[in-house]
Amino acid sequence: MPSIAVYPGSFDPITNGHIDLLERALKMFDQVIIAVAVNVGKEPMFSAEERFEMIKESLADHPQRERVKVDLLQGLLVDYVKSIPARTIVRGLRAVSDFEYEFQMALMNRKLNPEIETAFIMTGMRWIYISSRIIKEVVCAGGNVAGLVPDGVAKKLMERLSHP
Ligand code: PNS
Repeated sequence: MPSIAVYPGSFDPITNGHIDLLERALKMFDQVIIAVAVNVGKEPMFSAEERFEMIKESLADHPQRERVKVDLLQGLLVDYVKSIPARTIVRGLRAVSDFEYEFQMALMNRKLNPEIETAFIMTGMRWIYISSRIIKEVVCAGGNVAGLVPDGVAKKLMERLSHP
């Protein structure tokens, strides 16, 4: 049986930090499913379909793309993971500040389905200060995010800024 992990998130938009985490997860699992949350609870800059497409495009030339699937996540994450069927959720941890939110989600997911475990992977040091939120903030203020997000994503961010 191949080992499958689900990597959920808002990915609004995907950053190089997310891709770094994906690559680390691919060292541990045969297949990683990137699950793009449709309802993110906050007002996203990009629709779920746009976020999905940006991830697909960003990974189109990735050497490991055959072991990666991108999907839309609707409803409860643990129900989605069970439906695959998979038993592991992977999430990235950057700094202590991530811990409380991640701890709460992992324990709630465990309460909802004790068969499913969350595995935390440390983000590479190069990307420790990056988040989708800070990327959007920098772009909105006129800053350059080249090298921090895939090229196609940087382009989309600029387009969104000029045609909101
Ligand atoms: O990138 P984010 O915004 O930190 O990701 C949060 C996400 C999408 C993983 C979380 O909101 C989620 O799992 N949403 C799906 C609905 C669900 O199961 N919520 C309960 C999680 S405890």
